[in-house]
Order: sequence, then C-alpha cells, then structure tokens
Amino acid sequence: MITNPQTPFPWINYLGNEDFFSLISNTAGGYSFYKDAKFRRITRYRYNNVPMDNGGRYFYINDQDTVWSPGWKPCKTQLDKYECRHGMSYTIITGEKNGIEAEVLFFVPLNTWAEVQKVKLTNHTSETKRFKLFSFAEWCLWNAATDMENFQRNFSTGEVEIEGSVLYHKTEYKERRNHYAYYSVNAPIQGFDTDRESFIGLYNEFRDPQAVMAGKSNNSIAHGWSPIASHYLEIELQPGETKELVFVLGYVEYENREDKWESKGIINKSQAKATLAKFDTVSKVQAAFDELKGYWDDLLSVYVLNSHEEKLDRMVNIWNQYQCMITFNFSRSASFFESGIGRGMGFRDSNQDLVGFVHQIPARARQRIIDIASTQFSDGGCYHQYQPLTKRGNNDIGGGFNDDPMWLIFGTVAYLKETGDFSILDEPVPFDNQEGSEKSLFHHLTLSFNHVIENLGPHLLPLIGRADWNDCLNLNCFSWDPDESFQTTENKTEGSKAESLMIAGLFIVCGRDYVELCRQIGNRREAERAQKFIDSMTEAIKKSGWDGDWYLRAYDYYGNKVGSRENSESKIFIESQGWCAMAKVGLEEGMVQKALDSVKRYLDTPNGIVLNNPAFTEYKVEYGEISSYPAGYKENAGIFCHNNPWIMIAETVLGRGNQAWDYFRKICPSYTEDISDLHKVEPYVYSQMIAGKDSFKPGEAKNSWLTGTAAWNYYAITQFILGIKPDYEGLVIDPCIPADWKGFQVTRKFRGATYHIVIKNAGTNKRVKKLTVNGTVLSGNRVPLQPEGSVNTVEAALE
Ligand code: BGC
Ligand code: NOJ
Repeated sequence: MITNPQTPFPWINYLGNEDFFSLISNTAGGYSFYKDAKFRRITRYRYNNVPMDNGGRYFYINDQDTVWSPGWKPCKTQLDKYECRHGMSYTIITGEKNGIEAEVLFFVPLNTWAEVQKVKLTNHTSETKRFKLFSFAEWCLWNAATDMENFQRNFSTGEVEIEGSVLYHKTEYKERRNHYAYYSVNAPIQGFDTDRESFIGLYNEFRDPQAVMAGKSNNSIAHGWSPIASHYLEIELQPGETKELVFVLGYVEYENREDKWESKGIINKSQAKATLAKFDTVSKVQAAFDELKGYWDDLLSVYVLNSHEEKLDRMVNIWNQYQCMITFNFSRSASFFESGIGRGMGFRDSNQDLVGFVHQIPARARQRIIDIASTQFSDGGCYHQYQPLTKRGNNDIGGGFNDDPMWLIFGTVAYLKETGDFSILDEPVPFDNQEGSEKSLFHHLTLSFNHVIENLGPHLLPLIGRADWNDCLNLNCFSWDPDESFQTTENKTEGSKAESLMIAGLFIVCGRDYVELCRQIGNRREAERAQKFIDSMTEAIKKSGWDGDWYLRAYDYYGNKVGSRENSESKIFIESQGWCAMAKVGLEEGMVQKALDSVKRYLDTPNGIVLNNPAFTEYKVEYGEISSYPAGYKENAGIFCHNNPWIMIAETVLGRGNQAWDYFRKICPSYTEDISDLHKVEPYVYSQMIAGKDSFKPGEAKNSWLTGTAAWNYYAITQFILGIKPDYEGLVIDPCIPADWKGFQVTRKFRGATYHIVIKNAGTNKRVKKLTVNGTVLSGNRVPLQPEGSVNTVEAALE
C-alpha cells in the first residue's frame, strides 16, 4: 500500500491478462492498448514528460470550487487522505477531501476487452454534498508511433460518436480499420466533451481543465485535432451516503467488414453494448472482480512457500510470480521505461521468461513456444524479435544473434519438464511463418543445436554474430557514426573471429538438456551425436577459454581476448562466469570455484554483482555499445540483475548455499525496500539494472518490471536455492540453503497432484540425506509422479 502519492518515481501496475492491457501508476497515469502497445494504442501517453507521468485516466471532482483528483494527480490539490493499493491485475486508488471520499477500483475483467473503473463516492460529513464529477481519457490515434509524429495527418483524422453516456472513438474506422474504442458510465450524464481543446483549453493543463474549473462541460464533438472522452455528472450525497458508478473503457473489433456499420457512417455498437451490459451494475462488477481474484488465487497456489522469512515468502508466493506473468505477457515492450513502440517480443527474452511462467498457465506457454519457433529460419538462426499483433519476425532488427537458437531449447525443456506434454515436439512449426515450410518442433530444436556447431570460430568456440545475451557487446559492429543504432546497424560478421564464451557455456547447459530430451524420446543416436559436440565444447573452453582465475568473456573480431587480465579495462565479465560455471566446465580442476571466487572478489558489491570490472572509461569501437555507457550504468558495469541469478545457480553447483542466498537477497526488492529513496523504483518488482560501484549513484535502480530478472530469480530461488525442481519423471528435491536455516515448507502442485514438502536442515546445507514420500523412505532425491488428484506428504532431511 502506498500512502504518499509522491513516490520516488511513478510506481506502476499492470491491468489485464490476455488481450486488453493497461499500465497504471499510483496516481492513475498510464494508458491502455489491445494486444500490441504500438499498433493498437487506445489511450494517449506522452513518455518522458514534464512532469514525469503526465496523462492517464483521470477523475476530477469540483466541490464548491475546490478541484481535486482521487489519485492526487493531475490536480495535485492537497488531499486529506490518499492511498494506492496495487494488487494482482487491479489497482485501488482512494482520495479524500473535505469529507468526500472517492475510491476508484481499476481492473480488466477476465476475457474482456475493457478496463472497468468502479468509482465509489462517500459523504463523510453531516451535510448534504452537491459536487461535480468529470472523467477524462485521451484517445491515441491507434499507432502510438505515428501518433507522436505525423501531425499534418493526425490533426485531421479524429472522429467520435456519442450515444447516451457512451463516447465512441471511431477515428479511421471508415478506412482500413475495423476497430473502435469507447468510454462509458452506467448513469445518465449531464454533459460530455470529446474535443480536447474544448475540455482542457489551449492554455490550461491537465491539472486545471477549463471545463472542470467552470463546473460544466461543453458537449463538444471532436472533428480532427485531439479527440478525448470526458463525462460530466452532477452528484448529490446525503450525510453518510455512498454512491457507486461504473465507467468502462473498452475496445471493439469486427472481423467481418459487413458487420462494421449500423447504418451509413454509424458504427455498429452491438459488441460494445454487449460488454457494457456485463458491467452495468455494481454487483456485476463485484462478481467480475471476485472472479479475477479467484483466478489469481488459483494461479498462485501452484508453488507456495512457507519459510521463516516473510519477505522471501511475499516475493516467491506473490510478487515475483506476478512479475513473471507480466514479463510473459509483454516481453520487453511496454513499461514506464519501454515505450511500447520500440520492441515487440524478444526471441531470447520470451524463451527465458517461460521458466518463471510455465507452471502458471502451461497452455499459454505452449502457444508461446510455437509462436516463437515459427519465427526461426531454416538454418536454425532466428528473428531477434517479433510483433505480438502479427506474430511476424521484425525486419528492422533481423537476426544474427547467435545465442538466440539455444534459448528455444531452454524454453521448450522448461515446458516439457513442467507438463510432460511431449506432443508439443511433434507440432508442425513453419520457418519465418511461411506456410508450407512446417517441420516438427523437435526438428527446430535440432536446428537450434546445430546452428551453434555450424558457426564455430578459430578456437572452436561459438561465433558471437551480432551479439550474444549481452546486446551491447557488439564485437562486429565497428560503429563510428553517432546516428547509427548499435542494435540494428549492419555488422561485419564476414571473416570475423569474434567468439563467445557465454554462448559456449549456454550451449553446454542447453545441449545437455537436449541430450537428455533425446534420451527421453528414445532417440539415442541423436543423443550420442549431440553429446560429442558438448564434450568438444567443454574441451575448447578449457583449452582456450580460461584466463587463469576466471573464464574469458570472448575473442574479438581480430581474435584478441576480451575479459582477460591482459586487458586494461573490463578484465572480467559476469556472463561467462555464470554460464561456464553452470556448465561445470573444469569443475574437478577447480575452475568453477576459482571463477566464482573471482566474481566475489571483483564483481560483488553491497547492491548486487556488477556485469564487468573495471568499467570501460572510453569508447572502444571494437566493443560497441557496452563502452558507450558511462561507467557503472547498464551493460557497462551496472548491476544487470538478470545475470545475478546465473551466479546464484552456479554457487549451488558448488553447494555454497550461504553465498547463493547472499546474492539473492542483495537484489530482491522486498529486501531493498528500506532503501527505496535511493533505489527509486517499485519495491515489489525487480528492475533490469541497479547502478554499479563505478557509477555516480550506486544502488539506484532503473528499468523496473520488464526484465529477465523476474523469471531468472524465480528460477534460481525456487529450483536451485529452495531446490524443488520439476523433472520428466517427478519432482527432484535438491535444496542449497543457508546453513543456519532450520528448513522450510513448500506446497507444489505438479501434473495434477499436490505435494506438501517439508525440508529439514541439519545445518551443513548439504544435499538430501533422507527422503520420505507418504511415509515410505526412498533412496535418492526424486519424488516419483503421484496419481492425479492425490495429495502427498514429502519429507526431506538434509545432511
Ligand atoms: C540496451 C540493452 C538492450 C538492447 C536491445 C540496448 O540499448 O542497453 O539492454 O538489450 O538495447 O534493445
Ligand atoms: C535487455 C534485452 O531485452 C535482453 O535481450 C538482453 O539480453 C539484455 N538487455 C542484455 O543486453
């Protein structure tokens, strides 16, 4: 719960579950869109505005000339009370002024293309209150990118229709579009505005719209310029009385052109009316809200932790899983740091997001895997991104990121282990979405595997291509032109010797998964073939990827070492330590331990582990974007939270539970809540980056919400530290916890059965010594699959 509207940065939430989404800040800023934040932006939002977070769905109350908003903004009138509660897919904002309380519940009901806003007004005084309520939403002209730039056209296209209390935005409907939006209230209105200038006034602002100040709207009809939707209601409340109103901001799409019109020029409103009828009373809205709550209770019941750490339980049981759903839904497209117009769904990002999501709604994960795989090329390479609306690969960025193919194996294996649904491997999946090119998903995985071995460099290590996981280590880019984007500009990969130790480690980890998968499906020959390549990759790393105390990061275009003690800057990088250690390369020879000790020595800080050290202090054309960032930020020695869990997991390879936990706690938001003023962004979700030790402000976080950190930290804590791992034939119990923990309990729903798991720790944080399932002692640490519907008791005693 937020009680001061002036948070250190807007603290936001997401509404919506599948098609219709909204972003909402703690002062009701933000916007809505349908499926795609670029192509179907419904309400307008101006990023990086002054002040920050300006624009949203606003309510204004004019009570005897005191004008205020329940969310404090945009009026910024001092409130007598303010509260914001962000919950699972809903937000409740309450404001009180001069005895009137306004509580607004915002949510997108399940299976609904609309945001519902229930406004509850209460008179806490002993006198009758008469006041005026105005709503406000500003329409975006659909394409969020052109909406911000093509004014010579935009200012002439806006069109609206009004029927009763419903204000329709039908801009461009008559041309190629078959969609419109609407904003309604379930009560008669005393007026409305649909033209922004009439409502706000050319020289007024969101905080003092002239209609609100005058206490009367203008019944304006927008013709071009900026269409908006604003209702005007006169309210009377007796002492102690409460009134509730339901506003609905919705979207409609007609598949058949014949259905578009009611009569010439008049839109067919039947779909809008059908939705409105579902939410025209408070009790219907309450029922939809209860349904949403039930939906989330169900989702969150799959993995429930009960440890002695309240902050840990809160993250594992609620917020981390919630963030995993959000990253699954949006990839890296729309947040308060991602403008919704830049990036669609990332190939590698979406695959990684699956490990935090697959247990929640496996069917959606399955569809996602097919969608992603459909953007793969027939040589195993992949489009780096695709648009969620069209599901087509994004040509602006293209392919050539040589880690991408491996992540398809990573995501698919996570799905298979969770569900046991091997039928997905037989699904016909096209290449580059071309009809007729379909091959089985398993074939795509084989191509992914082969793509790495068909692209090896002089040290028999994987060629990096445009970049590996680190989009900013651009070893083949060589950009001197400040107007070029490091991400999209053509690279000189031809003849390059640039190799990646990160991909090498990733290849071994995912390659082993591939081998195991081949064995599962009885394809021994393929398993053996693949294993040979894994063995040679391991040898190649030992031979050419070790720098003495840590793994090298890469070889550059010319074949020079990157991330070596020989370099003057960035002698050590995190990614290859994480991946080569997870791959256990040189475990017996002590390489893993040495590498992780070096991480601790050179990269660890009080706020998390930095990406590289020492930071680059000058631009190096042969390294690209990484060296363009100031020291300590982003990929240049920032704490790039996404890769911290790689080190946590690697620590569990060595059985160092104390260290893994220490790293976990450093970046976990519930543990950094006390330093929110420094940290700045939401204390309930992970952020992509926390400024590193070389920065101006170590500990300051940025880019919250849409980050692979969500899935990776969930994966690290649940499967490696707490150690409850879904596997093909059951649940593997393999905790690696701090020595002083007495134990913990997890309830895990898995393939239709429920497992109550009790872990007891004797204090050496070593592995399972005794495993009992329903009273029977078993050897090893695998709980075999139990019948669907059964409830089982599992006890594991650690050494
Ligand atoms: C960022 C990366 C990101 C890349 C691709 C870069 O500017 O620093 O974190 O992966 O853009 O969008
Ligand atoms: C953010 C991108 O979304 C992700 O794909 C990339 O791996 C990291 N940045 C690191 O550069």
